[in-house]
Amino acid sequence: MSKTQNAIISSVRTVMGWVPAQWLPGGTPDPLIERRAAIGRQASRLDGPLKVAGEARFAAEVAMERLCYAALVHSPVTRGRITRLETSAAEAAPGVILVMTHRTMPRVGTVPLISITDLSAVGNSSIPVMQDPEIRYNGQVVAAVVAETQEQADHAASLIAIDYAIDAARTRFEDAKPDARTPASLLMDKNHVSIGNAERELKRAPNRVDNVYRTPAQNHNAIELHAVTAAWDGDSLVLHDATQMIAPSATALAKLFGLKREQVRVLSPFVGGGFGGKGLWDHQIVAIAAARLAGRPLRLMLSREGVYRMIGGRSPSEQRVAIGAEGDGKFTALLHTGYSVMPSYGACPEQYTLGTRSLYGSGSFEIMQRHLELDIVPNTFMRAPGEAIGSFAVESAIDELAHAMGVDPIALRLRNLPERHPISGAPFSQHALGQAYAEGAERFGWDRRHAEPGTVREGEWRIGMGCATGSFPYARMPGANVRITLRGDGTAVIACSAQEMGMGTATVQAQHAADRLGLPLEAISVELGDSALPAAPMAGGSSQTASIAGAIAAAATKLAGELLRLAGNDSPIAGLRAGEVQLVDEGIASIADPARRESYRSILARAAREAIAVTAAGSAPLEFLKFAMHSSSAIFCELRVSAVTGEVRVDRLLGSFDCGTILNPKTAASQFRGGMIMGLGLALMEETLFDERSGRIMNPSLADYHIPAHLDVPEIDVIWTGIPDPRSPLGARGIGEIGITGVAAAVANAVFNATGKRIRDLPITLDKLL
Ligand code: MOS
Repeated sequence: MSKTQNAIISSVRTVMGWVPAQWLPGGTPDPLIERRAAIGRQASRLDGPLKVAGEARFAAEVAMERLCYAALVHSPVTRGRITRLETSAAEAAPGVILVMTHRTMPRVGTVPLISITDLSAVGNSSIPVMQDPEIRYNGQVVAAVVAETQEQADHAASLIAIDYAIDAARTRFEDAKPDARTPASLLMDKNHVSIGNAERELKRAPNRVDNVYRTPAQNHNAIELHAVTAAWDGDSLVLHDATQMIAPSATALAKLFGLKREQVRVLSPFVGGGFGGKGLWDHQIVAIAAARLAGRPLRLMLSREGVYRMIGGRSPSEQRVAIGAEGDGKFTALLHTGYSVMPSYGACPEQYTLGTRSLYGSGSFEIMQRHLELDIVPNTFMRAPGEAIGSFAVESAIDELAHAMGVDPIALRLRNLPERHPISGAPFSQHALGQAYAEGAERFGWDRRHAEPGTVREGEWRIGMGCATGSFPYARMPGANVRITLRGDGTAVIACSAQEMGMGTATVQAQHAADRLGLPLEAISVELGDSALPAAPMAGGSSQTASIAGAIAAAATKLAGELLRLAGNDSPIAGLRAGEVQLVDEGIASIADPARRESYRSILARAAREAIAVTAAGSAPLEFLKFAMHSSSAIFCELRVSAVTGEVRVDRLLGSFDCGTILNPKTAASQFRGGMIMGLGLALMEETLFDERSGRIMNPSLADYHIPAHLDVPEIDVIWTGIPDPRSPLGARGIGEIGITGVAAAVANAVFNATGKRIRDLPITLDKLL
């Protein structure tokens, strides 16, 4: 991301400011906002029965003739090179088919790093995969063993002997600060925002807080391990992968292995959790190369430790947040700066300051992130990358300011809600955070909170309440394509390469298509998870639903045109144009005169067609360059802290969300709750123990890296405003990442309210409370 990109995006934004809203996607609100039948229903997941019956086949479960298995060897050193490589014992071990190292792996290039400008740029690391003896980080893959069984491969991998020449490595966060890089941009935004003289305003302010917050490194722990089954058929490749970027991966892998796009098929009908971690990493490339050498289909499933070693997680951060406020609470200065780790060979900037730009007005701003260069597995996107930890710092700081000023923290927040986007000046498309707070506070019983910390006790337990705001930007990705096949029997099939990671992608789009086409929900089936279908973008940035919805809307418009053409001159709808009709009640009808209509069955039967199919791409997603579009939330937490052990038990958690139309209350509530549970992990447990002396992760297992278990999770209440966003397809904004955002601060603020102790470094473990 460069200065040039900043310049391009800011000029597009400027032009968008001039363009009348009606000309843009979302300029005229989606008619389905007013016309919902299947949308908004508690539809159960279409794939639910398959999953309950164990019939959903995941990437490591695909049955195949002559399948062989791979195991990986990871470097135990952090920086250096391989000087001796002894593989003969492994090669002679029972069942071993081959050992692949940098000496024998076919020569391949690298995948371009994830970028917003190139849809096939999906790399998480630009370090060549097993192409040379260089070691760049601890855990880097150095050898693969292929055998008849997994056990034989695992055993043989232990027989490989490697000597390394060890070089000095950069592994200490503190030591890397003097050489920190200042990136020009963070995803689509400028990194450095400076409005007014924030340092000066801060000094002048009658009320101020100025503190440093720390968040640890975290690892991905999706329930399904990263896994791939690779099968070559001559020069064609079929890859069963656990991935959240099906079509972009197929394009990238085709380039990497010198194949045509049609020669690579990536299949990923079900993914057992992605959260940003299921992208294109080294293991897919190693598996594909090894399968080619072995001449057999090959399966590679990472061990849990393997995921820690070679799949990046969330960067640690150190963030300064300072706020200056007038006596009435109005912010005069808002400063958010800090450090996180982003090796130059990685792709994720952990944009923890992005949320700070849109949430609150302030007389002055100073916002900037700096990246530290360490020799580590490149960090990557992990549910609300940036916002999850940035909101911890900012929303803790606001609670600190409210306490110092003796005002209610909700009132202080509402006092500073902006009329327009505080930095760009763009109007909000829809924004009802105030309502979310009011409804959340009412339902939670916020008025029962005692403002004075440490005043509520129950035996050894100190009890407290806290709240915090979450915010996550809306996005709709370009390059979303969908095919609609309308059949003469009155059913329709929606097809695209979208990803189903458990959140209900197929279900929600079936509901959407039912209403868009005027068909009953039962008449719709959805095909996804296959790169041979019309290409969908990756599932990321909480954007998949809106992206696919935009494409379905475009395809439905095209379908209407096709139906008019097919209906011909003998139809009641003859003479109408595409803009004058709507798809409703299993047919096509004049908007002005609904009596002029013909059913799909009738049109297809008269034309002697079994089916018609149209494919279309969603419109350019310009709406979020003109409008400020954000999902937001008010999170409330009540917890108790033991005065004896320091143990924190969360008793109640409530999320009040403002995310536009809620398409399916059942799947949405599940998304919100899942995010909030992950937020509890962020607040209280999750921490990658990275040994700064060795550069090695020391807790690569679920025994040592703690995530919330059932008994750690309280009753979670979820409510929403449900106010449609007039600028997005269906009025919906993303809900995948907003759930985690704000939870850590709500917990930290509740801990303060319970104990009077302000914990500014996550996770809030009991040792910090004694
Ligand atoms: Mo997400 S971190 O965009 O899967």
